[in-house]
Amino acid sequence: MPPMLNRDDLHAATAPLNRARSMPAGFYTDPAIFAAERQQILLKRWFFLAREEQVPNPGDYLTFDTAGGPVILIRGQDGKARVFANYCRHRGSILVEGEGNCSRIVCPYHAWSYLSDGTLYGCPDMKDAEGFDRTENGLVPLRMESWAGFIFATYNRDAPALIDCLGDLPRRMASHKLNDMACTWRITLAPNCNWKLILENAMETYHTGVVHKDSVGAQQSRTLPTQGDWLCIQVISGRSIATLPGTQPPPFPAIDGLDDDARQGTYFTVIHPSLQFAVAQDCMWWLNVTPLAHDRSLLEIGGCFPKQTLDDPDFEAKAKPYYDRWELVGREDVGILEKQQKALGSVAYKPGPLSWRDDQVQAIGIWVLDQLEGRMPG
Ligand code: FES
Ligand SMILES: [Fe+2]
Repeated sequence: MPPMLNRDDLHAATAPLNRARSMPAGFYTDPAIFAAERQQILLKRWFFLAREEQVPNPGDYLTFDTAGGPVILIRGQDGKARVFANYCRHRGSILVEGEGNCSRIVCPYHAWSYLSDGTLYGCPDMKDAEGFDRTENGLVPLRMESWAGFIFATYNRDAPALIDCLGDLPRRMASHKLNDMACTWRITLAPNCNWKLILENAMETYHTGVVHKDSVGAQQSRTLPTQGDWLCIQVISGRSIATLPGTQPPPFPAIDGLDDDARQGTYFTVIHPSLQFAVAQDCMWWLNVTPLAHDRSLLEIGGCFPKQTLDDPDFEAKAKPYYDRWELVGREDVGILEKQQKALGSVAYKPGPLSWRDDQVQAIGIWVLDQLEGRMPG
């Protein structure tokens, strides 16, 4: 048990749902808990970066903050995408920021330069450095694997293969044909709240009729069983909920060949530790949470459509209601989560009782606790 959390509080938080309480405030507000999560979860697990088509050409790069520091995703001249720690092997400057294309990565400090496969290429005035071997001073690679076009990386050389972590997620989403989709839009928000609050929020529909009363409105969901390192609910609706209810009908058609379950609604997921896929009848969007501190996170929302849909001559106009909905709802959630984070800081805080609609809120907390206690998820 994490020593900084009270045993009775944890007992109450992990009790059967009809008797369970919220996690103690420290779970969300204590820097020591965050440090433990970073070591035992965030630096051990796979984290999502981007889709393959976001770096289509040799030299294309994207940069990201991660729980383990800044990284760069860059496609080499050989066509292979790679992920490197985004720091210079001389004295550690960030190498590149934002996104773009370059034939060489040139450090902005003393102009060491690297090829897009990470090889150190230029290093002025290093002739006298004893024992200096440029082949040993290339960019530091991270392990990278992709599934269905989604690129993940990890700092852990011993992490199980990505596909093994995904368990039965590929089977559950097979009829959506995610590998045939392309990312067309993304936005990054920077909520001042704990990373777990963001995940919890997207896994319950208890709040939607309140926080989103003027946008998506009230919803109902059911929890689906999963195998592997992920959780899943389905928000029930025969039409896609990727646009607001006022946009009737959704501008894009349902994906051909959706299976019976997929036709019934939108899957919302947590892919442990901090990625969420929302997969609707006509598109998918991700909520990629990057935990930066106990009270600071990044939330990237990225939208993808079937490549066939992109061929629609009116694609941009038809896609706008989707983009507007994702951003509006994301901002509504961030608004309430920042209020929640602030209140969790009250010295008078006592964990409150959970509703039956909070089952996945509890499941997320229990998964994290299990990792901190060194047990494998059950
Ligand atoms: S820190 Fe990059 S060249 Fe000196
Ligand atoms: Fe929400």
